[in-house]
Amino acid sequence: MLAGLAVLVGARGSAASEPEVAPRSLKQLAAAKGMRMGSSFAWGAQGADRGSFANPAYAALLMRDCSLLVAENEMKWQALRPSATQFDFARFDAMMAWADANALPVRGHNLLWHQPKWMPRWEETHDFGATPARAAERLLVDHVSTVCGRYGSRIRSYDVVNEAVDPKDASLYQTALSRAMGSPEATLDLAFRTARRAAPQAQLVYNDYMSWEPGNATHRAGVLKLLEGFKTRGVPVDALGVQSHLVTQGIDARATIAELEGEWRRFLDEVTAMGYGLVITELDVRDNSLPADVAVRDRAVADFTRGYLDVMLAYPQLRDVLLWGMTDRYSWIEGFEPRKDKPRRRPCPYDAAFKPKPMYTAIAAALAAAPHRA
Ligand code: XIL
Repeated sequence: MLAGLAVLVGARGSAASEPEVAPRSLKQLAAAKGMRMGSSFAWGAQGADRGSFANPAYAALLMRDCSLLVAENEMKWQALRPSATQFDFARFDAMMAWADANALPVRGHNLLWHQPKWMPRWEETHDFGATPARAAERLLVDHVSTVCGRYGSRIRSYDVVNEAVDPKDASLYQTALSRAMGSPEATLDLAFRTARRAAPQAQLVYNDYMSWEPGNATHRAGVLKLLEGFKTRGVPVDALGVQSHLVTQGIDARATIAELEGEWRRFLDEVTAMGYGLVITELDVRDNSLPADVAVRDRAVADFTRGYLDVMLAYPQLRDVLLWGMTDRYSWIEGFEPRKDKPRRRPCPYDAAFKPKPMYTAIAAALAAAPHRA
């Protein structure tokens, strides 16, 4: 793997005259700019072929390039809450223990994924009794306080609410909790207020996937409206999590970016003008509108990533960049949206054989070119 990286980055000078300098890892490049680089990771049985800390090949990538981690699924209600009265922390605790042992900070993802399909099945049919608003509030407050309380100052940034805005019409989704409480706003506000109390030292993030590709204007408008509402109501929200599940729009990344950049900057300007920070929480790339040829796809994905990061890293409010997986081998994209023409998706900086791709070099170059954070 490291040999592959040296070839890719290109060692200068001959081996005889100059010792080969190890290329700097993404976390080192980020640190030089006052930033952090991270990735999602999973739980897995020891040695299992998964994107897990217990897979030595995957753990090596995390340790090489990451200064921050996030659990791909293991902190979600679906993972932590087998029922309304139970918590199961076994897997997430094991991940935290490994991260702690390696001195790697972890972000919390997430305290409330505000869509029925991403909440546990039991929750949608839960009997909230004679005083449903009080019962729903209790359930939510108990969840947020228990999770935040358990990890204390070990987790310093939470996606408190995930994906509450319906991209179809910019409205807020309803869940069993919000129906019982009377409104989605009441539910989201309570999640943030409880998180602030239970984790006073943590950055509290609203996380969503409104992106810069065509077709997302309504989603962005809904997110802006939600963020404005938080300000008006005095809800403690510190930053917008920009998931950054990017989608290429063809081979010519530069032309695409020239088209998308203006509106995207206007969105980010509005967000930051309200005083919100920015976090790239889930970066990966879907290689759409590209031929099957691997070299062509990898080049276009790298160029698109570089252009996107150049725009994003220009905002000093952005300090943390997290990938949604280090290698194509375990990326969720293959299951979520496979290519219609069948070749395997290539959404991540390392390929399925753990070799760095042009996307890796693009991220490294974007970090190297980024302005330094004070
Ligand atoms: C995804 C995981 O990667 C999948 O394994 C799981 O089946 C569904 O969730 N936005 C988010 C993440 O906030 O939690 C999602 O993760 C990807 C989209």
